[in-house]
Amino acid sequence: MITTRPSPSRTDSVAGDVETPALKTDSITKSYGSNLVLEELSLEVQNGEFVSLLGPSGCGKTTTLNIVSGFLQPDSGAVQIGGVDVTHTPAHKRDSAVVFQNYALFPHMTVEKNIRYGLKAKRVPREELKERVAWALRLVDILELKDRYPGQLSGGQQQRVAVARSLVMRPGILLMDEPLSNLDAKLRAELRLELKALQQDLGQSVLFVTHDQVEALSLSDRIVVMNRGHVEQVGTSREVYEHPATVFVARFMGVENVFELTRDNDIYQTAGGLHFPSRLMGPEVSAVGIRPSMLRTRAEPVEGWTGWASRGEIRSVTYLGDTVRYEVAVGDETLAAISSDTHSVLDPGSTAYLHASPESLLPLAT
Ligand SMILES: Nc1ncnc2c1ncn2[C@@H]1O[C@H](COP(=O)(O)OP(=O)(O)OP(=O)(O)O)[C@@H](O)[C@H]1O
Ligand SMILES: [Mg+2]
Repeated sequence: MITTRPSPSRTDSVAGDVETPALKTDSITKSYGSNLVLEELSLEVQNGEFVSLLGPSGCGKTTTLNIVSGFLQPDSGAVQIGGVDVTHTPAHKRDSAVVFQNYALFPHMTVEKNIRYGLKAKRVPREELKERVAWALRLVDILELKDRYPGQLSGGQQQRVAVARSLVMRPGILLMDEPLSNLDAKLRAELRLELKALQQDLGQSVLFVTHDQVEALSLSDRIVVMNRGHVEQVGTSREVYEHPATVFVARFMGVENVFELTRDNDIYQTAGGLHFPSRLMGPEVSAVGIRPSMLRTRAEPVEGWTGWASRGEIRSVTYLGDTVRYEVAVGDETLAAISSDTHSVLDPGSTAYLHASPESLLPLAT
C-alpha cells in the first residue's frame, strides 16, 4: 500500500487549463493492408479525467494508444495533446508517457536509473532531476527498492516502477495499456484502488486500455466502448452499464438476455416467440436486453404486475451460494434469471413466471 504518498502541491499538479482537452483524436483511421483496424475514431480526454478504452481483443485499443503516443502513424485523422497538433511529431517530443502491459523496464538499469532515464533524455537540470526521482519513488512507495534491478522485483513491484517512470515525466496525458493484467486478482484489485487515488491526487489525465469491464467501471470517469475499430458508446460507468446503447455494448457489459425484435402493431416480438407490448418499449426499438438479476422468477404470477411478464418452464437450476441461477425456456427462447431467494428454489421442469419492471427492459440499437 502507499503509505508515504507526498501531499500534492501546485507544482505536482499536471492539470492544465480547463477548456483545452488533455487529448483529442479526430477521425483517426488506420489499415493494415485490406484490414481496416481503426475507422474514424474520435475521442477526448479532459484535463484530470480518467478515460478507459474498453473493448474485446483485436478491436484496436493498442493501435489507438500507439497512434496517440507516436509509435504509429495514422493513415488519416489528427491527434492533439494539450491543444497542440502532434500528428506528425515524433514520440519523444510528445507530452505523453506510456505504461506498457509488460512494463518494458530496462533490465540492465536499477529501479532508480529506470525512473531517471526519461528526465535525463529531456536534459532536466541535475537538482530538479534528483528531486523528481525521489518524489516518484516515494509516490508509489518503492524508495527501498531503488538499487534493485527489474529482474529482482515481483510483478506488482515492476508495475509500480513502470508507473513511477511515467509519472515522473508529469505527462500531459498518461497512456496505460492493460497495466494490471499480469497481476493476480487480489493485487490487481489493490493496485486499482491505489492507481485511482494517485490519479485523483495528481489530477493526472489518463487514457487507460482494458478489456475488463469491472476494471473500466471502477476506475473511469468515462468509458469509450470500442468494437472493431469504431466507438460504440461513450459515457460514465453508470451510463454505459445501466443504459447500454447497442446490442454489442449490452452483451459486453454482461446483459445476457438480448433479443432482436420485430414490430407487429402494438407488440414487439422475437424470432423465438417472446412478446413485449410496445407501451413498455418506446417507439423505434430494434432489440431488447434484460439483465438476469432484473428478472423475478416465481411459481405463480405476481398479482397486479404492470410490467413485462411471461410464462415459461425451468430448464436448469444452478445453486451459486448467494444466488440461484435459472435457465427458463419461453417458446423457443431461453432466458437466464438470477434470484437471491435461495430458500424456495423452483424445480427443473416446473412452470415459472418471469417478471421484469419496465425500467429493466433495455431498448437497444443493433
Ligand atoms: N503490425 C500489424 N500488422 C498487421 N495487423 C496488425 C498489426 N498490429 C495490429 N494488427 C491488427 O490490428 C487489429 C487491432 O489490434 P490491436 O493490437 O490494436 O488490438 P487490441 O484491441 O489492443 O487487442 P488486445 O486486447 O488483444 O490487446 C488486430 O486485428 C490485429 O491483428
Ligand atoms: Mg492490446
